[in-house]
Amino acid sequence: MASPNPFDKQTPIQGIKHILAVSSGKGGVGKSTVATNLALALGRKGKVGLLDADIYGPSIPRMLGALSQKPNMNPDTNQLEPIERYGLKLMSIGFLIDESSAVVWRGPMLFKAMDQFLRDVNWGELDYLVIDLPPGTGDIQLTLAQKVPVAGAIVVSTPQNVALVDVKKAIDMFQRVSVPLLGLIENMAYMINPVNGEKMQLFPKGEIDSYAQKMGIPKLGEVAFNPSVGLSCEAGIPIVEANPNGAEAQAFMKIADKIRELFP
Ligand SMILES: Nc1ncnc2c1ncn2[C@@H]1O[C@H](COP(=O)(O)OP(=O)(O)OP(=O)(O)O)[C@@H](O)[C@H]1O
Ligand SMILES: [Mg+2]
Repeated sequence: MASPNPFDKQTPIQGIKHILAVSSGKGGVGKSTVATNLALALGRKGKVGLLDADIYGPSIPRMLGALSQKPNMNPDTNQLEPIERYGLKLMSIGFLIDESSAVVWRGPMLFKAMDQFLRDVNWGELDYLVIDLPPGTGDIQLTLAQKVPVAGAIVVSTPQNVALVDVKKAIDMFQRVSVPLLGLIENMAYMINPVNGEKMQLFPKGEIDSYAQKMGIPKLGEVAFNPSVGLSCEAGIPIVEANPNGAEAQAFMKIADKIRELFP
């Protein structure tokens, strides 16, 4: 007898057109920053939700200046109402528990929590649901791939070769679970020298471009390192909101355009 297919249970979420997963093999490369700004950029021309699937280190509430918000439960439907911020619908474990408490869920509990975030939240009609995944290639990523049809995954990386090793792992994982890879975003790719306006390499330039080319993986864009990107998220007004005409916000807008072309 054939073994059961783990993807049999995949069911679409009513009302959500395209689910996009933002991921990386490595921690701290800017996934949450990218997921947030990309969601805001997509939200300029459509209805967008942002789900913080980083159960262990949620950062969406802080990045969107919504730390003190608590979602309401609709008693008729038993669904949580997402928090609304800058036109985005948001959900995060960070809205439900204190920022400094640790979540110790594993296996089935994690599975249940992810399922509830996807199905027991009143997302309504969305063009895109952007999911900020935790770093790595663990339970949450697999749960997601098994539970819902993810339209595509976006892998974020910094330029160094050490990051590339983890990019390869992330790409391998998405291939195994049959989630289409939309492409790579190189974050903190360079910095503009404030004195002469020239590009400076903050990290040694690795082989991401040649690897992506060899593997036929599109590069969706590059975002420069700019302290204002970090500071704006820290202040709860991400750069796409705070300075939409600046170079970094424009980089996110261009990536959003590419995604709209792929999933109109
Ligand atoms: N382009 C950028 N320019 C300047 N700072 C940045 C940029 N991208 C991210 N940062 C900063 O780098 C740090 C890590 O970013 P972020 O939290 O988005 O990474 P992450 O990959 O989600 O991390 P984790 O693995 O912990 O979830 C933050 O302090 C953020 O403000
Ligand atoms: Mg993060």
